[in-house]
Amino acid sequence: MSQPFYITTPIYYVNDVPHIGHSYTTLACDVLARYKRARGFEVFFLTGTDEHGQKVEKAALAQGETPLQLADRVMMRFQNLWEKLGITHDDFIRTSQERHKAGVQALFKQLLDQGDIYLGEYEDWYCTPCETFWTETQLMNGNCPDCGRATDKLKEESYFFRMSRYQEPLLAHIEAHPDFIQPPSRRNEILSFIKEGLRDLSISRTSFSWGIPVPGNEKHVIYVWFDALSNYITALGYPGDHKGHYTRFWPADVHVIGKDILRFHTIYWPTFLMAAGIPLPKKVFAHGWWTVEGKKMSKSLRNVVEPNRLIDQYGVDAIRYFLLREVPFGLDGDFSHSALVHRINSDLANDLGNLVSRSSAMVNKYFGGLLPAAGDASDIDAAFVRCFAETLPKIDSHCNDLAFSKALQAIWELVTKANKYIDESQPWVLAKQEGQRSRLGTVLYNLMEGVRLAALLVAPFMPDTGRRMLAVVGQDPEDVTLVGKDGWGILTPGTRIEKAAPLFPRIEEETKAGK
Ligand code: ME8
Repeated sequence: MSQPFYITTPIYYVNDVPHIGHSYTTLACDVLARYKRARGFEVFFLTGTDEHGQKVEKAALAQGETPLQLADRVMMRFQNLWEKLGITHDDFIRTSQERHKAGVQALFKQLLDQGDIYLGEYEDWYCTPCETFWTETQLMNGNCPDCGRATDKLKEESYFFRMSRYQEPLLAHIEAHPDFIQPPSRRNEILSFIKEGLRDLSISRTSFSWGIPVPGNEKHVIYVWFDALSNYITALGYPGDHKGHYTRFWPADVHVIGKDILRFHTIYWPTFLMAAGIPLPKKVFAHGWWTVEGKKMSKSLRNVVEPNRLIDQYGVDAIRYFLLREVPFGLDGDFSHSALVHRINSDLANDLGNLVSRSSAMVNKYFGGLLPAAGDASDIDAAFVRCFAETLPKIDSHCNDLAFSKALQAIWELVTKANKYIDESQPWVLAKQEGQRSRLGTVLYNLMEGVRLAALLVAPFMPDTGRRMLAVVGQDPEDVTLVGKDGWGILTPGTRIEKAAPLFPRIEEETKAGK
Protein backbone atom coordinates (compact mmCIF):
# COMPACT_ATOMS: atom_id res chain seq x y z
CA MET A 1 0.00 0.00 0.00
CA SER A 2 1.29 3.44 -0.85
CA GLN A 3 2.46 5.81 1.85
CA PRO A 4 0.03 8.54 2.98
CA PHE A 5 0.92 12.22 2.70
CA TYR A 6 -1.29 14.89 4.23
CA ILE A 7 -0.76 18.54 3.27
CA THR A 8 -2.85 21.58 4.19
CA THR A 9 -3.19 25.26 3.33
CA PRO A 10 -4.51 27.78 5.84
CA ILE A 11 -8.27 28.18 5.55
CA TYR A 12 -8.85 31.66 4.19
CA TYR A 13 -11.05 34.33 5.71
CA VAL A 14 -14.12 35.16 3.68
CA ASN A 15 -14.07 38.86 4.49
CA ASP A 16 -11.38 39.37 1.85
CA VAL A 17 -11.37 38.27 -1.78
CA PRO A 18 -8.63 35.92 -2.99
CA HIS A 19 -5.42 37.61 -4.10
CA ILE A 20 -1.93 36.65 -5.13
CA GLY A 21 -0.89 35.92 -1.51
CA HIS A 22 -3.58 33.28 -1.00
CA SER A 23 -2.82 31.87 -4.45
CA TYR A 24 0.85 31.53 -3.52
CA THR A 25 0.26 29.30 -0.49
CA THR A 26 -2.33 27.18 -2.25
CA LEU A 27 -0.13 26.82 -5.31
CA ALA A 28 2.90 25.73 -3.28
CA CYS A 29 0.76 23.03 -1.65
CA ASP A 30 -0.57 21.97 -5.03
CA VAL A 31 2.93 21.53 -6.43
CA LEU A 32 3.97 19.40 -3.48
CA ALA A 33 0.73 17.40 -3.67
CA ARG A 34 1.24 16.71 -7.38
CA TYR A 35 4.91 15.86 -6.87
CA LYS A 36 4.15 13.42 -4.06
CA ARG A 37 1.42 11.77 -6.14
CA ALA A 38 3.91 11.41 -9.00
CA ARG A 39 6.26 9.72 -6.51
CA GLY A 40 3.56 7.21 -5.62
CA PHE A 41 2.26 8.66 -2.35
CA GLU A 42 -1.42 8.61 -1.46
CA VAL A 43 -1.94 12.33 -1.01
CA PHE A 44 -4.67 14.09 0.92
CA PHE A 45 -4.58 17.79 0.13
CA LEU A 46 -6.90 20.03 2.13
CA THR A 47 -7.89 23.65 1.73
CA GLY A 48 -10.99 25.64 2.68
CA THR A 49 -12.48 28.79 4.17
CA ASP A 50 -12.53 30.27 7.66
CA GLU A 51 -16.01 31.69 7.96
CA HIS A 52 -16.64 32.56 11.62
CA GLY A 53 -15.63 35.45 13.86
CA GLN A 54 -16.28 39.08 14.47
CA LYS A 55 -14.37 40.23 11.39
CA VAL A 56 -16.63 38.26 9.06
CA GLU A 57 -19.74 39.27 11.01
CA LYS A 58 -18.79 42.97 10.67
CA ALA A 59 -17.95 42.67 6.96
CA ALA A 60 -21.31 41.01 6.28
CA LEU A 61 -23.19 43.65 8.20
CA ALA A 62 -21.42 46.41 6.28
CA GLN A 63 -22.59 44.84 3.02
CA GLY A 64 -26.14 44.21 4.18
CA GLU A 65 -25.78 40.44 4.16
CA THR A 66 -25.91 37.67 6.70
CA PRO A 67 -22.49 36.21 7.53
CA LEU A 68 -23.46 32.98 5.80
CA GLN A 69 -24.54 34.80 2.63
CA LEU A 70 -21.18 36.56 2.57
CA ALA A 71 -19.37 33.27 3.20
CA ASP A 72 -21.30 31.48 0.42
CA ARG A 73 -20.42 34.18 -2.05
CA VAL A 74 -16.73 34.60 -1.23
CA MET A 75 -16.18 30.86 -0.81
CA MET A 76 -17.25 30.47 -4.46
CA ARG A 77 -14.64 33.00 -5.51
CA PHE A 78 -11.95 30.94 -3.81
CA GLN A 79 -13.24 27.72 -5.38
CA ASN A 80 -13.42 29.26 -8.86
CA LEU A 81 -9.92 30.65 -8.57
CA TRP A 82 -8.54 27.29 -7.42
CA GLU A 83 -10.09 25.67 -10.46
CA LYS A 84 -8.56 28.25 -12.75
CA LEU A 85 -5.16 27.86 -11.08
CA GLY A 86 -5.30 24.08 -11.53
CA ILE A 87 -5.40 23.30 -7.82
CA THR A 88 -5.94 19.59 -7.09
CA HIS A 89 -7.20 19.64 -3.51
CA ASP A 90 -8.96 16.51 -2.28
CA ASP A 91 -11.32 18.29 0.08
CA PHE A 92 -12.53 21.83 0.75
CA ILE A 93 -13.66 22.48 4.30
CA ARG A 94 -15.88 25.34 5.38
CA THR A 95 -16.00 26.10 9.08
CA SER A 96 -19.76 26.66 8.79
CA GLN A 97 -20.25 22.99 7.88
CA GLU A 98 -21.87 20.63 10.39
CA ARG A 99 -19.01 18.13 10.19
CA HIS A 100 -16.64 20.84 11.35
CA LYS A 101 -18.86 22.27 14.11
CA ALA A 102 -19.37 18.85 15.64
CA GLY A 103 -15.63 18.17 15.70
CA VAL A 104 -14.76 21.54 17.25
CA GLN A 105 -17.37 21.11 19.97
CA ALA A 106 -16.11 17.61 20.74
CA LEU A 107 -12.55 18.87 21.12
CA PHE A 108 -13.67 21.79 23.28
CA LYS A 109 -15.80 19.54 25.47
CA GLN A 110 -13.00 17.07 26.03
CA LEU A 111 -10.65 19.83 27.20
CA LEU A 112 -13.39 21.35 29.36
CA ASP A 113 -14.27 18.01 30.98
CA GLN A 114 -10.65 17.25 31.80
CA GLY A 115 -10.01 20.73 33.26
CA ASP A 116 -7.76 22.14 30.54
CA ILE A 117 -10.46 24.70 29.76
CA TYR A 118 -12.01 26.69 32.65
CA LEU A 119 -14.38 29.63 33.02
CA GLY A 120 -12.88 32.97 34.11
CA GLU A 121 -12.99 36.66 33.38
CA TYR A 122 -11.06 38.58 30.81
CA GLU A 123 -9.92 42.15 30.62
CA ASP A 124 -7.50 43.11 27.89
CA TRP A 125 -6.94 44.95 24.64
CA TYR A 126 -8.47 43.36 21.58
CA CYS A 127 -7.45 43.87 17.96
CA THR A 128 -10.45 42.96 15.82
CA PRO A 129 -8.63 42.76 12.45
CA CYS A 130 -6.14 40.28 13.96
CA GLU A 131 -8.71 38.61 16.25
CA THR A 132 -6.07 38.78 19.00
CA PHE A 133 -5.95 39.93 22.63
CA TRP A 134 -2.93 41.92 23.86
CA THR A 135 -1.83 42.91 27.34
CA GLU A 136 -1.22 46.56 28.16
CA THR A 137 2.57 46.05 27.93
CA GLN A 138 2.41 44.36 24.56
CA LEU A 139 0.70 47.31 22.87
CA MET A 140 2.78 49.68 20.73
CA ASN A 141 1.69 53.25 21.46
CA GLY A 142 -1.69 51.87 22.41
CA ASN A 143 -2.04 50.02 19.10
CA CYS A 144 -1.82 46.40 17.99
CA PRO A 145 1.87 45.37 17.86
CA ASP A 146 1.20 43.20 14.77
CA CYS A 147 -0.80 45.47 12.47
CA GLY A 148 -0.50 48.87 14.14
CA ARG A 149 -4.25 49.48 14.23
CA ALA A 150 -6.31 50.67 17.20
CA THR A 151 -7.35 48.16 19.88
CA ASP A 152 -10.46 48.11 22.11
CA LYS A 153 -10.55 47.39 25.83
CA LEU A 154 -12.71 44.34 26.41
CA LYS A 155 -13.92 42.88 29.67
CA GLU A 156 -15.90 39.72 29.47
CA GLU A 157 -16.56 36.37 31.02
CA SER A 158 -14.47 33.95 29.07
CA TYR A 159 -13.36 30.36 28.94
CA PHE A 160 -9.61 29.93 29.17
CA PHE A 161 -7.32 27.24 27.87
CA ARG A 162 -4.51 26.28 30.27
CA MET A 163 -1.80 26.98 27.73
CA SER A 164 0.73 27.74 30.49
CA ARG A 165 0.57 24.09 31.48
CA TYR A 166 1.99 23.07 28.09
CA GLN A 167 4.86 25.53 27.85
CA GLU A 168 7.55 23.03 28.90
CA PRO A 169 6.21 20.06 26.89
CA LEU A 170 5.98 22.31 23.80
CA LEU A 171 9.55 23.58 24.24
CA ALA A 172 10.74 20.01 24.66
CA HIS A 173 8.90 18.97 21.50
CA ILE A 174 10.37 21.79 19.42
CA GLU A 175 13.87 21.08 20.74
CA ALA A 176 13.52 17.37 19.98
CA HIS A 177 12.10 17.88 16.47
CA PRO A 178 14.29 20.30 14.51
CA ASP A 179 12.03 19.84 11.48
CA PHE A 180 8.81 20.79 13.27
CA ILE A 181 9.06 24.51 12.49
CA GLN A 182 10.59 25.48 9.16
CA PRO A 183 12.53 27.42 7.99
CA PRO A 184 14.99 27.49 10.95
CA SER A 185 14.78 31.29 11.39
CA ARG A 186 11.08 30.88 12.23
CA ARG A 187 11.89 28.14 14.72
CA ASN A 188 14.24 30.45 16.63
CA GLU A 189 11.63 33.20 16.64
CA ILE A 190 9.08 30.85 18.22
CA LEU A 191 11.53 29.37 20.72
CA SER A 192 12.34 32.81 22.12
CA PHE A 193 8.67 33.75 22.20
CA ILE A 194 7.76 30.64 24.23
CA LYS A 195 10.67 31.18 26.61
CA GLU A 196 9.17 34.55 27.57
CA GLY A 197 6.30 32.56 29.04
CA LEU A 198 2.91 31.36 27.87
CA ARG A 199 -0.23 32.74 29.49
CA ASP A 200 -3.54 30.92 29.60
CA LEU A 201 -5.52 31.75 26.48
CA SER A 202 -8.99 33.23 26.29
CA ILE A 203 -10.87 30.74 24.19
CA SER A 204 -14.44 32.05 23.96
CA ARG A 205 -16.29 35.30 23.25
CA THR A 206 -19.63 36.71 24.32
CA SER A 207 -19.48 39.99 22.38
CA PHE A 208 -20.83 38.56 19.11
CA SER A 209 -22.64 35.45 18.00
CA TRP A 210 -21.26 34.38 14.58
CA GLY A 211 -19.38 31.28 15.64
CA ILE A 212 -19.66 27.82 17.13
CA PRO A 213 -21.46 27.82 20.52
CA VAL A 214 -19.59 26.53 23.55
CA PRO A 215 -21.20 23.17 24.39
CA GLY A 216 -23.42 23.65 27.41
CA ASN A 217 -23.13 27.46 27.52
CA GLU A 218 -24.58 28.97 24.37
CA LYS A 219 -23.93 32.54 25.49
CA HIS A 220 -20.33 31.96 24.42
CA VAL A 221 -18.96 31.28 20.97
CA ILE A 222 -15.69 29.43 20.58
CA TYR A 223 -12.68 31.64 19.76
CA VAL A 224 -12.20 31.77 16.00
CA TRP A 225 -8.62 30.42 16.09
CA PHE A 226 -9.62 27.38 18.18
CA ASP A 227 -12.41 26.87 15.66
CA ALA A 228 -10.23 27.43 12.56
CA LEU A 229 -7.19 25.39 13.56
CA SER A 230 -9.35 22.36 14.29
CA ASN A 231 -10.23 22.17 10.59
CA TYR A 232 -7.09 20.14 10.01
CA ILE A 233 -8.61 17.24 11.96
CA THR A 234 -12.35 17.79 11.53
CA ALA A 235 -11.88 17.42 7.76
CA LEU A 236 -10.63 13.90 8.45
CA GLY A 237 -13.73 13.09 10.47
CA TYR A 238 -12.47 13.86 14.01
CA PRO A 239 -13.66 12.81 16.60
CA GLY A 240 -14.68 9.96 14.30
CA ASP A 241 -12.79 8.63 11.32
CA HIS A 242 -14.51 9.63 8.05
CA LYS A 243 -13.67 6.94 5.43
CA GLY A 244 -10.72 5.98 7.64
CA HIS A 245 -9.08 9.31 6.80
CA TYR A 246 -8.26 10.30 10.36
CA THR A 247 -6.40 7.08 11.03
CA ARG A 248 -4.70 7.13 7.67
CA PHE A 249 -3.66 10.77 7.36
CA TRP A 250 -3.23 12.26 10.84
CA PRO A 251 -0.70 13.59 11.87
CA ALA A 252 -0.35 15.93 8.89
CA ASP A 253 2.96 15.80 7.06
CA VAL A 254 3.00 19.55 6.62
CA HIS A 255 0.86 22.60 7.34
CA VAL A 256 1.93 25.29 4.86
CA ILE A 257 1.18 28.82 6.08
CA GLY A 258 2.32 32.42 5.68
CA LYS A 259 4.64 33.84 8.33
CA ASP A 260 1.78 36.01 9.66
CA ILE A 261 0.07 33.06 11.31
CA LEU A 262 3.08 31.19 12.64
CA ARG A 263 2.32 31.61 16.37
CA PHE A 264 -1.17 30.23 15.98
CA HIS A 265 0.19 27.14 14.25
CA THR A 266 3.25 26.50 16.37
CA ILE A 267 2.02 27.49 19.84
CA TYR A 268 -1.79 27.45 20.02
CA TRP A 269 -2.43 24.46 17.77
CA PRO A 270 0.23 22.13 19.21
CA THR A 271 -0.77 22.91 22.80
CA PHE A 272 -4.46 22.23 22.04
CA LEU A 273 -3.42 18.93 20.50
CA MET A 274 -1.10 18.01 23.38
CA ALA A 275 -3.87 18.66 25.86
CA ALA A 276 -6.21 16.43 23.87
CA GLY A 277 -3.58 13.69 23.58
CA ILE A 278 -3.52 13.99 19.78
CA PRO A 279 -0.18 13.67 17.93
CA LEU A 280 1.28 16.91 16.58
CA PRO A 281 1.68 17.68 12.87
CA LYS A 282 5.12 16.68 11.60
CA LYS A 283 5.98 20.05 10.13
CA VAL A 284 4.76 23.64 9.94
CA PHE A 285 6.37 25.58 7.11
CA ALA A 286 5.97 29.36 7.08
CA HIS A 287 6.65 31.11 3.80
CA GLY A 288 7.41 34.79 3.31
CA TRP A 289 5.30 37.74 2.35
CA TRP A 290 4.76 39.21 -1.12
CA THR A 291 4.88 42.91 -1.73
CA VAL A 292 3.81 44.42 -5.05
CA GLU A 293 6.19 46.63 -7.02
CA GLY A 294 7.98 47.30 -3.71
CA LYS A 295 4.86 48.15 -1.67
CA LYS A 296 2.72 46.29 0.81
CA MET A 297 -0.40 44.95 -0.90
CA SER A 298 -3.45 46.78 0.41
CA LYS A 299 -6.94 47.73 -0.63
CA SER A 300 -6.28 51.39 0.15
CA LEU A 301 -3.23 51.46 -2.14
CA ARG A 302 -5.34 49.74 -4.80
CA ASN A 303 -2.39 47.53 -5.66
CA VAL A 304 -3.91 44.16 -4.79
CA VAL A 305 -2.83 41.75 -7.50
CA GLU A 306 -5.88 40.01 -8.88
CA PRO A 307 -4.87 36.50 -9.89
CA ASN A 308 -7.71 35.99 -12.41
CA ARG A 309 -6.49 38.91 -14.46
CA LEU A 310 -2.90 37.77 -14.37
CA ILE A 311 -3.88 34.28 -15.50
CA ASP A 312 -5.94 35.69 -18.39
CA GLN A 313 -3.05 37.87 -19.44
CA TYR A 314 -0.07 35.51 -19.11
CA GLY A 315 -1.48 31.99 -18.81
CA VAL A 316 -1.77 29.83 -15.74
CA ASP A 317 1.52 27.93 -16.13
CA ALA A 318 3.56 31.11 -16.46
CA ILE A 319 2.08 32.43 -13.22
CA ARG A 320 2.60 29.13 -11.42
CA TYR A 321 6.21 29.07 -12.59
CA PHE A 322 6.94 32.68 -11.72
CA LEU A 323 5.56 32.57 -8.19
CA LEU A 324 7.58 29.53 -7.21
CA ARG A 325 10.75 30.34 -9.14
CA GLU A 326 11.20 34.01 -8.35
CA VAL A 327 11.56 33.84 -4.57
CA PRO A 328 13.12 31.11 -2.39
CA PHE A 329 10.23 29.58 -0.44
CA GLY A 330 10.43 30.96 3.09
CA LEU A 331 11.73 34.42 2.15
CA ASP A 332 9.81 37.60 1.34
CA GLY A 333 9.50 38.59 -2.29
CA ASP A 334 8.34 41.33 -4.56
CA PHE A 335 5.89 40.92 -7.39
CA SER A 336 6.53 43.03 -10.46
CA HIS A 337 5.26 42.78 -14.01
CA SER A 338 8.71 43.36 -15.43
CA ALA A 339 10.18 40.44 -13.43
CA LEU A 340 7.30 38.23 -14.59
CA VAL A 341 7.78 39.14 -18.26
CA HIS A 342 11.51 38.60 -17.94
CA ARG A 343 11.01 35.09 -16.54
CA ILE A 344 8.50 34.20 -19.24
CA ASN A 345 10.74 35.37 -22.07
CA SER A 346 14.02 34.02 -20.83
CA ASP A 347 13.24 30.83 -18.89
CA LEU A 348 10.05 29.67 -20.59
CA ALA A 349 10.06 30.93 -24.18
CA ASN A 350 13.83 30.85 -24.68
CA ASP A 351 15.28 28.03 -22.61
CA LEU A 352 12.47 25.51 -22.35
CA GLY A 353 10.49 26.45 -25.46
CA ASN A 354 13.52 26.45 -27.73
CA LEU A 355 14.78 23.12 -26.45
CA VAL A 356 11.50 21.40 -27.22
CA SER A 357 10.95 23.01 -30.62
CA ARG A 358 14.55 22.67 -31.86
CA SER A 359 14.99 19.06 -30.82
CA SER A 360 11.59 17.85 -32.03
CA ALA A 361 12.07 19.68 -35.34
CA MET A 362 15.36 17.83 -35.91
CA VAL A 363 13.77 14.40 -35.34
CA ASN A 364 11.23 15.41 -37.97
CA LYS A 365 13.82 16.76 -40.37
CA TYR A 366 16.39 13.97 -40.13
CA PHE A 367 14.26 10.92 -39.22
CA GLY A 368 10.84 11.69 -40.69
CA GLY A 369 9.39 12.23 -37.20
CA LEU A 370 10.22 8.73 -35.94
CA LEU A 371 12.44 8.50 -32.87
CA PRO A 372 15.81 6.96 -33.80
CA ALA A 373 17.53 4.40 -31.59
CA ALA A 374 20.64 5.42 -29.67
CA GLY A 375 23.76 4.00 -31.29
CA ASP A 376 27.37 5.23 -31.33
CA ALA A 377 28.15 7.47 -28.37
CA SER A 378 30.94 9.85 -27.46
CA ASP A 379 32.01 11.32 -24.12
CA ILE A 380 29.69 14.28 -24.39
CA ASP A 381 26.71 11.94 -24.93
CA ALA A 382 27.63 9.96 -21.83
CA ALA A 383 28.14 13.15 -19.81
CA PHE A 384 24.71 14.40 -20.85
CA VAL A 385 23.00 11.20 -19.71
CA ARG A 386 24.96 11.19 -16.45
CA CYS A 387 23.91 14.74 -15.69
CA PHE A 388 20.25 13.67 -15.48
CA ALA A 389 21.06 10.74 -13.21
CA GLU A 390 23.00 13.04 -10.89
CA THR A 391 20.45 15.84 -10.80
CA LEU A 392 17.25 13.86 -10.20
CA PRO A 393 17.98 13.01 -6.55
CA LYS A 394 18.79 16.66 -5.89
CA ILE A 395 15.46 17.76 -7.32
CA ASP A 396 13.75 15.15 -5.16
CA SER A 397 15.34 16.45 -1.99
CA HIS A 398 14.56 20.08 -2.88
CA CYS A 399 10.89 19.18 -3.40
CA ASN A 400 10.78 17.31 -0.10
CA ASP A 401 12.29 20.36 1.61
CA LEU A 402 9.71 22.66 -0.05
CA ALA A 403 12.65 24.40 -1.73
CA PHE A 404 10.62 24.97 -4.89
CA SER A 405 12.85 27.64 -6.33
CA LYS A 406 15.92 25.41 -5.95
CA ALA A 407 14.06 22.50 -7.56
CA LEU A 408 13.17 24.67 -10.56
CA GLN A 409 16.71 25.98 -10.76
CA ALA A 410 18.00 22.40 -10.90
CA ILE A 411 15.46 21.48 -13.59
CA TRP A 412 16.59 24.51 -15.59
CA GLU A 413 20.21 23.42 -15.26
CA LEU A 414 19.15 20.29 -17.14
CA VAL A 415 17.32 22.34 -19.76
CA THR A 416 20.38 24.56 -20.22
CA LYS A 417 22.59 21.48 -20.43
CA ALA A 418 20.34 20.07 -23.15
CA ASN A 419 20.51 23.28 -25.18
CA LYS A 420 24.28 23.24 -24.82
CA TYR A 421 24.35 19.61 -25.86
CA ILE A 422 22.69 20.59 -29.14
CA ASP A 423 25.24 23.34 -29.74
CA GLU A 424 28.17 21.04 -28.93
CA SER A 425 27.06 17.95 -30.77
CA GLN A 426 25.87 19.96 -33.82
CA PRO A 427 23.32 17.52 -35.23
CA TRP A 428 23.08 19.60 -38.44
CA VAL A 429 26.78 18.85 -39.10
CA LEU A 430 26.39 15.16 -38.21
CA ALA A 431 23.46 14.97 -40.64
CA LYS A 432 25.72 15.94 -43.51
CA GLN A 433 28.56 13.58 -42.64
CA GLU A 434 28.96 10.07 -44.01
CA GLY A 435 28.96 7.41 -41.27
CA GLN A 436 27.50 9.66 -38.54
CA ARG A 437 23.90 8.48 -38.81
CA SER A 438 24.19 6.27 -35.73
CA ARG A 439 25.70 9.09 -33.63
CA LEU A 440 23.03 11.50 -34.90
CA GLY A 441 20.43 8.97 -33.68
CA THR A 442 22.11 8.92 -30.26
CA VAL A 443 22.02 12.69 -29.91
CA LEU A 444 18.38 12.97 -30.90
CA TYR A 445 17.33 9.99 -28.79
CA ASN A 446 19.07 11.54 -25.78
CA LEU A 447 17.45 14.89 -26.38
CA MET A 448 13.99 13.35 -26.55
CA GLU A 449 14.63 11.38 -23.36
CA GLY A 450 15.74 14.68 -21.81
CA VAL A 451 12.50 16.32 -22.92
CA ARG A 452 10.49 13.41 -21.51
CA LEU A 453 12.17 13.64 -18.11
CA ALA A 454 11.94 17.43 -18.08
CA ALA A 455 8.21 17.09 -18.85
CA LEU A 456 7.67 14.87 -15.81
CA LEU A 457 9.73 17.17 -13.61
CA VAL A 458 7.99 20.37 -14.66
CA ALA A 459 4.51 18.79 -14.57
CA PRO A 460 3.84 19.48 -10.85
CA PHE A 461 4.76 23.13 -11.38
CA MET A 462 3.27 23.62 -14.86
CA PRO A 463 0.74 20.83 -15.47
CA ASP A 464 -0.35 21.95 -18.92
CA THR A 465 3.22 22.41 -20.14
CA GLY A 466 4.12 18.97 -18.81
CA ARG A 467 1.20 17.48 -20.75
CA ARG A 468 2.15 19.26 -23.97
CA MET A 469 5.77 18.14 -23.69
CA LEU A 470 4.72 14.54 -23.08
CA ALA A 471 2.52 14.67 -26.18
CA VAL A 472 5.52 15.87 -28.23
CA VAL A 473 7.52 12.77 -27.26
CA GLY A 474 4.59 10.46 -27.96
CA GLN A 475 3.72 9.69 -24.31
CA ASP A 476 0.34 9.66 -22.58
CA PRO A 477 -0.02 13.32 -21.51
CA GLU A 478 -2.05 12.35 -18.44
CA ASP A 479 0.48 9.85 -17.10
CA VAL A 480 2.81 12.00 -15.04
CA THR A 481 4.03 9.37 -12.62
CA LEU A 482 7.73 9.28 -11.86
CA VAL A 483 7.49 5.79 -10.40
CA GLY A 484 9.48 3.55 -12.74
CA LYS A 485 9.76 6.46 -15.19
CA ASP A 486 12.61 8.44 -13.69
CA GLY A 487 15.33 6.29 -15.26
CA TRP A 488 16.94 6.65 -18.68
CA GLY A 489 15.84 4.86 -21.85
CA ILE A 490 12.07 4.70 -21.41
CA LEU A 491 11.19 5.98 -24.91
CA THR A 492 10.86 3.27 -27.56
CA PRO A 493 12.68 3.90 -30.85
CA GLY A 494 10.18 4.33 -33.64
CA THR A 495 7.84 6.46 -31.47
CA ARG A 496 6.29 9.29 -33.44
CA ILE A 497 7.63 12.69 -32.35
CA GLU A 498 5.48 15.75 -32.93
CA LYS A 499 6.95 18.88 -34.40
CA ALA A 500 6.20 21.05 -31.38
CA ALA A 501 4.47 24.40 -31.63
CA PRO A 502 6.15 27.06 -29.44
CA LEU A 503 5.32 26.30 -25.79
CA PHE A 504 5.40 29.94 -24.71
CA PRO A 505 5.06 32.93 -27.01
CA ARG A 506 7.42 35.77 -26.16
CA ILE A 507 5.73 38.74 -24.49
CA GLU A 508 6.38 41.89 -26.49
CA GLU A 509 7.42 45.27 -25.09
CA GLU A 510 4.02 46.97 -25.28
CA THR A 511 2.38 44.52 -22.86
CA LYS A 512 5.32 44.62 -20.48
CA ALA A 513 3.83 47.15 -18.15
CA GLY A 514 0.87 44.83 -17.68
CA LYS A 515 -1.51 47.32 -19.22
O1 ME8 B 1 -5.08 34.09 8.45
N1 ME8 B 1 2.04 37.21 0.76
O2 ME8 B 1 -6.66 33.75 6.80
P1 ME8 B 1 -6.25 34.83 5.70
C1 ME8 B 1 2.05 35.89 0.96
N2 ME8 B 1 -8.16 32.41 8.43
N3 ME8 B 1 1.03 35.19 1.47
C2 ME8 B 1 -0.07 35.86 1.81
C3 ME8 B 1 -0.19 37.26 1.63
C4 ME8 B 1 0.95 37.95 1.08
N4 ME8 B 1 0.96 39.25 0.86
N5 ME8 B 1 -1.40 37.62 2.08
C5 ME8 B 1 -2.04 36.48 2.49
C6 ME8 B 1 -6.10 33.58 8.03
N6 ME8 B 1 -1.24 35.41 2.32
C7 ME8 B 1 -6.82 32.54 8.86
C8 ME8 B 1 -6.07 31.24 8.76
S1 ME8 B 1 -5.73 28.65 9.34
C9 ME8 B 1 -6.28 27.59 10.50
C10 ME8 B 1 -6.64 30.12 9.57
C11 ME8 B 1 -1.59 34.01 2.62
O3 ME8 B 1 -7.36 34.81 4.71
C12 ME8 B 1 -0.68 33.37 3.65
O4 ME8 B 1 -0.75 31.97 3.50
O5 ME8 B 1 -5.88 36.11 6.33
C13 ME8 B 1 -1.36 33.72 4.95
O6 ME8 B 1 -0.96 32.88 6.00
C14 ME8 B 1 -2.80 33.52 4.58
O7 ME8 B 1 -2.88 34.00 3.21
C15 ME8 B 1 -3.74 34.31 5.48
O8 ME8 B 1 -5.02 34.17 4.99
